[in-house]
Amino acid sequence: MLIAGNWKLNCNINEAIDLSSSILNNLNSKVLRSEVALFPPTIYIETVYNVIKNSNIALGAQDCSVNISGAYTGDVSAPMLNDFGCKFSIVGHSERRNGKNESNKDVYLKAKNLMDFKMIPIICVGENAEDRERGNALDVIKKQLEESIPKSNNEFIIAYEPIWAIGSGKIPTLDSINEMFNMIRQWLTNNSMKNNIKILYGGSVNKGNAKELFSCKDLGGLLIGGVSLNPTEFSEICIIAS
Ligand code: 13P
Repeated sequence: MLIAGNWKLNCNINEAIDLSSSILNNLNSKVLRSEVALFPPTIYIETVYNVIKNSNIALGAQDCSVNISGAYTGDVSAPMLNDFGCKFSIVGHSERRNGKNESNKDVYLKAKNLMDFKMIPIICVGENAEDRERGNALDVIKKQLEESIPKSNNEFIIAYEPIWAIGSGKIPTLDSINEMFNMIRQWLTNNSMKNNIKILYGGSVNKGNAKELFSCKDLGGLLIGGVSLNPTEFSEICIIAS
Protein backbone atom coordinates (compact mmCIF):
# COMPACT_ATOMS: atom_id res chain seq x y z
CA MET A 1 0.00 0.00 0.00
CA LEU A 2 1.07 3.58 -0.62
CA ILE A 3 -0.19 6.49 1.48
CA ALA A 4 0.53 9.67 -0.45
CA GLY A 5 0.13 13.22 0.88
CA ASN A 6 -0.53 15.80 -1.83
CA TRP A 7 0.10 19.19 -0.23
CA LYS A 8 -1.10 21.06 -3.35
CA LEU A 9 -0.36 24.84 -3.25
CA ASN A 10 0.08 25.08 0.52
CA CYS A 11 2.83 25.86 3.07
CA ASN A 12 5.59 28.40 3.27
CA ILE A 13 9.13 27.13 3.74
CA ASN A 14 8.97 26.95 7.54
CA GLU A 15 5.62 25.19 7.42
CA ALA A 16 7.04 22.70 4.90
CA ILE A 17 9.89 21.94 7.31
CA ASP A 18 7.53 21.68 10.30
CA LEU A 19 5.01 19.49 8.50
CA SER A 20 7.57 17.04 7.13
CA SER A 21 9.47 16.97 10.47
CA SER A 22 6.29 16.22 12.43
CA ILE A 23 5.30 13.40 10.07
CA LEU A 24 8.84 12.03 10.28
CA ASN A 25 8.77 12.16 14.10
CA ASN A 26 5.44 10.37 14.16
CA LEU A 27 6.51 7.62 11.78
CA ASN A 28 10.25 7.07 11.93
CA SER A 29 10.17 4.74 14.92
CA LYS A 30 7.33 2.69 13.41
CA VAL A 31 7.72 -0.41 11.31
CA LEU A 32 5.39 0.49 8.44
CA ARG A 33 4.10 -2.11 6.05
CA SER A 34 2.77 0.67 3.82
CA GLU A 35 4.99 3.09 1.97
CA VAL A 36 4.47 6.77 2.83
CA ALA A 37 5.28 9.56 0.37
CA LEU A 38 5.03 13.36 0.60
CA PHE A 39 4.26 15.61 -2.39
CA PRO A 40 5.22 19.19 -1.45
CA PRO A 41 5.09 22.14 -3.86
CA THR A 42 7.98 21.85 -6.34
CA ILE A 43 9.93 24.73 -4.82
CA TYR A 44 10.09 22.93 -1.45
CA ILE A 45 11.10 19.52 -2.77
CA GLU A 46 14.73 20.00 -1.78
CA THR A 47 13.73 21.39 1.63
CA VAL A 48 11.57 18.36 2.37
CA TYR A 49 14.21 16.04 0.92
CA ASN A 50 16.67 17.33 3.50
CA VAL A 51 14.22 16.53 6.29
CA ILE A 52 13.21 13.02 5.21
CA LYS A 53 16.38 11.71 3.54
CA ASN A 54 17.55 8.40 5.05
CA SER A 55 14.07 7.82 6.50
CA ASN A 56 11.18 5.48 5.72
CA ILE A 57 9.32 8.33 3.95
CA ALA A 58 9.59 8.85 0.18
CA LEU A 59 9.31 12.02 -1.87
CA GLY A 60 7.26 12.94 -4.91
CA ALA A 61 6.35 15.90 -7.11
CA GLN A 62 2.86 17.14 -7.91
CA ASP A 63 3.46 17.44 -11.66
CA CYS A 64 6.18 17.47 -14.31
CA SER A 65 6.69 18.92 -17.76
CA VAL A 66 5.68 17.23 -21.01
CA ASN A 67 9.18 18.25 -22.15
CA ILE A 68 12.62 17.13 -21.06
CA SER A 69 14.52 20.34 -21.80
CA GLY A 70 14.41 23.42 -24.01
CA ALA A 71 12.61 26.73 -24.26
CA TYR A 72 9.70 26.00 -21.90
CA THR A 73 9.73 28.83 -19.37
CA GLY A 74 8.55 27.82 -15.93
CA ASP A 75 8.53 24.06 -16.54
CA VAL A 76 10.25 21.45 -14.36
CA SER A 77 11.20 18.21 -16.13
CA ALA A 78 11.27 14.59 -15.00
CA PRO A 79 15.11 14.39 -14.88
CA MET A 80 15.19 17.57 -12.75
CA LEU A 81 12.79 15.98 -10.26
CA ASN A 82 14.93 12.86 -10.30
CA ASP A 83 18.00 14.97 -9.43
CA PHE A 84 16.21 16.13 -6.27
CA GLY A 85 15.36 12.67 -4.93
CA CYS A 86 11.80 12.28 -6.16
CA LYS A 87 10.71 8.68 -6.49
CA PHE A 88 7.21 9.55 -7.71
CA SER A 89 5.33 12.30 -9.49
CA ILE A 90 1.60 12.82 -9.69
CA VAL A 91 0.41 13.49 -13.26
CA GLY A 92 -3.04 14.28 -14.61
CA HIS A 93 -4.53 15.53 -11.36
CA SER A 94 -8.01 16.90 -12.13
CA GLU A 95 -6.90 20.29 -10.80
CA ARG A 96 -4.48 20.35 -13.75
CA ARG A 97 -6.64 18.54 -16.31
CA ASN A 98 -9.44 21.04 -15.70
CA GLY A 99 -7.70 24.09 -14.25
CA LYS A 100 -4.81 24.06 -16.75
CA ASN A 101 -6.57 22.37 -19.68
CA GLU A 102 -4.24 19.40 -19.67
CA SER A 103 -5.23 16.70 -22.16
CA ASN A 104 -4.91 12.93 -21.88
CA LYS A 105 -2.05 13.22 -24.38
CA ASP A 106 -0.21 15.65 -22.05
CA VAL A 107 -0.69 13.23 -19.17
CA TYR A 108 0.61 10.38 -21.32
CA LEU A 109 3.76 12.33 -22.24
CA LYS A 110 4.43 13.31 -18.63
CA ALA A 111 4.01 9.71 -17.46
CA LYS A 112 6.30 8.47 -20.24
CA ASN A 113 9.01 11.02 -19.35
CA LEU A 114 8.91 9.93 -15.71
CA MET A 115 9.17 6.26 -16.67
CA ASP A 116 12.09 7.04 -18.99
CA PHE A 117 13.92 8.56 -16.02
CA LYS A 118 13.11 5.63 -13.71
CA MET A 119 10.52 7.45 -11.66
CA ILE A 120 7.03 6.19 -10.87
CA PRO A 121 4.13 8.25 -12.26
CA ILE A 122 0.93 8.34 -10.25
CA ILE A 123 -1.55 8.79 -13.08
CA CYS A 124 -4.81 10.35 -11.88
CA VAL A 125 -8.21 9.67 -13.40
CA GLY A 126 -11.64 10.76 -12.23
CA GLU A 127 -15.13 11.62 -13.40
CA ASN A 128 -17.08 14.79 -12.66
CA ALA A 129 -20.46 14.90 -10.89
CA GLU A 130 -22.40 15.14 -14.14
CA ASP A 131 -20.75 12.03 -15.58
CA ARG A 132 -21.43 10.17 -12.34
CA GLU A 133 -25.12 11.20 -12.30
CA ARG A 134 -25.61 10.23 -15.95
CA GLY A 135 -24.10 6.80 -15.32
CA ASN A 136 -21.09 7.53 -17.55
CA ALA A 137 -18.36 7.25 -14.90
CA LEU A 138 -16.94 3.90 -16.05
CA ASP A 139 -16.78 4.98 -19.71
CA VAL A 140 -15.15 8.32 -18.85
CA ILE A 141 -12.45 6.63 -16.77
CA LYS A 142 -11.86 3.99 -19.44
CA LYS A 143 -11.19 6.71 -22.02
CA GLN A 144 -8.77 8.43 -19.63
CA LEU A 145 -6.96 5.12 -19.09
CA GLU A 146 -6.77 4.41 -22.84
CA GLU A 147 -5.33 7.83 -23.66
CA SER A 148 -3.24 8.72 -20.58
CA ILE A 149 -1.39 5.50 -19.76
CA PRO A 150 1.72 4.46 -21.69
CA LYS A 151 1.47 0.76 -22.55
CA SER A 152 4.64 -0.19 -20.78
CA ASN A 153 6.25 -2.69 -18.48
CA ASN A 154 7.61 0.15 -16.33
CA GLU A 155 6.17 0.69 -12.90
CA PHE A 156 3.29 3.13 -12.55
CA ILE A 157 0.37 3.74 -10.23
CA ILE A 158 -3.21 4.74 -11.01
CA ALA A 159 -5.08 7.08 -8.66
CA TYR A 160 -8.86 7.10 -8.96
CA GLU A 161 -10.04 10.49 -7.71
CA PRO A 162 -13.69 11.30 -8.50
CA ILE A 163 -13.65 15.08 -9.04
CA TRP A 164 -16.86 15.54 -7.04
CA ALA A 165 -15.24 13.84 -4.03
CA ILE A 166 -12.17 16.10 -3.91
CA GLY A 167 -12.38 18.53 -1.00
CA SER A 168 -16.17 18.05 -0.79
CA GLY A 169 -16.42 15.75 2.23
CA LYS A 170 -18.27 13.22 0.03
CA ILE A 171 -16.88 9.82 -0.90
CA PRO A 172 -18.34 7.19 -3.25
CA THR A 173 -19.95 4.07 -1.82
CA LEU A 174 -17.58 1.15 -1.36
CA ASP A 175 -19.59 -0.70 -4.01
CA SER A 176 -18.95 1.98 -6.59
CA ILE A 177 -15.23 2.17 -5.72
CA ASN A 178 -15.01 -1.63 -6.03
CA GLU A 179 -16.86 -1.47 -9.36
CA MET A 180 -14.44 1.16 -10.67
CA PHE A 181 -11.38 -0.72 -9.40
CA ASN A 182 -12.65 -3.94 -11.06
CA MET A 183 -13.00 -2.12 -14.37
CA ILE A 184 -9.51 -0.60 -14.04
CA ARG A 185 -7.96 -3.95 -13.09
CA GLN A 186 -9.71 -5.63 -16.04
CA TRP A 187 -8.44 -2.90 -18.36
CA LEU A 188 -4.88 -3.43 -17.11
CA THR A 189 -5.19 -7.19 -17.65
CA ASN A 190 -6.69 -6.75 -21.13
CA ASN A 191 -3.73 -4.55 -22.00
CA SER A 192 -1.22 -7.12 -20.73
CA MET A 193 0.04 -4.89 -17.94
CA LYS A 194 1.50 -6.22 -14.72
CA ASN A 195 -1.01 -7.45 -12.16
CA ASN A 196 0.79 -5.74 -9.26
CA ILE A 197 0.03 -2.20 -10.43
CA LYS A 198 -1.41 -0.27 -7.50
CA ILE A 199 -4.75 1.51 -7.73
CA LEU A 200 -5.14 4.31 -5.18
CA TYR A 201 -8.30 6.09 -4.09
CA GLY A 202 -8.33 9.86 -3.48
CA GLY A 203 -11.02 12.38 -2.51
CA SER A 204 -12.04 13.56 0.99
CA VAL A 205 -10.06 10.85 2.76
CA ASN A 206 -9.84 11.32 6.52
CA LYS A 207 -9.12 9.20 9.57
CA GLY A 208 -12.81 8.41 9.95
CA ASN A 209 -13.40 7.00 6.48
CA ALA A 210 -9.91 5.50 5.95
CA LYS A 211 -10.76 2.32 7.89
CA GLU A 212 -13.80 1.77 5.67
CA LEU A 213 -11.77 2.48 2.51
CA PHE A 214 -9.15 -0.09 3.56
CA SER A 215 -11.85 -2.75 3.22
CA CYS A 216 -11.97 -2.18 -0.58
CA LYS A 217 -10.66 -5.39 -2.06
CA ASP A 218 -8.13 -4.04 -4.54
CA LEU A 219 -7.11 -0.82 -2.76
CA GLY A 220 -3.42 -0.11 -3.34
CA GLY A 221 -3.36 2.99 -1.15
CA LEU A 222 -4.69 6.50 -0.68
CA LEU A 223 -3.92 9.88 -2.23
CA ILE A 224 -4.75 12.42 0.47
CA GLY A 225 -5.12 16.17 -0.01
CA GLY A 226 -6.43 18.37 2.82
CA VAL A 227 -5.74 15.90 5.64
CA SER A 228 -2.10 15.51 4.53
CA LEU A 229 -1.54 19.02 5.93
CA ASN A 230 -2.48 17.75 9.39
CA PRO A 231 0.56 15.75 10.56
CA THR A 232 -1.26 13.95 13.37
CA GLU A 233 -4.24 12.76 11.31
CA PHE A 234 -2.09 11.94 8.26
CA SER A 235 0.34 9.91 10.40
CA GLU A 236 -2.54 8.07 12.06
CA ILE A 237 -3.85 7.02 8.65
CA CYS A 238 -0.35 5.78 7.73
CA ILE A 239 -0.29 3.72 10.92
CA ILE A 240 -3.81 2.34 10.38
CA ALA A 241 -2.70 1.32 6.86
CA SER A 242 0.06 -0.74 8.37
P1 13P B 1 -8.79 16.01 -0.62
O1 13P B 1 -8.24 14.87 0.19
O2 13P B 1 -8.54 17.36 -0.03
O3 13P B 1 -10.22 15.77 -1.02
O4 13P B 1 -7.95 16.02 -1.99
C1 13P B 1 -7.79 14.85 -2.69
C2 13P B 1 -6.80 15.09 -3.74
O5 13P B 1 -7.04 15.83 -4.69
C3 13P B 1 -5.49 14.42 -3.61
O6 13P B 1 -4.73 14.51 -4.78
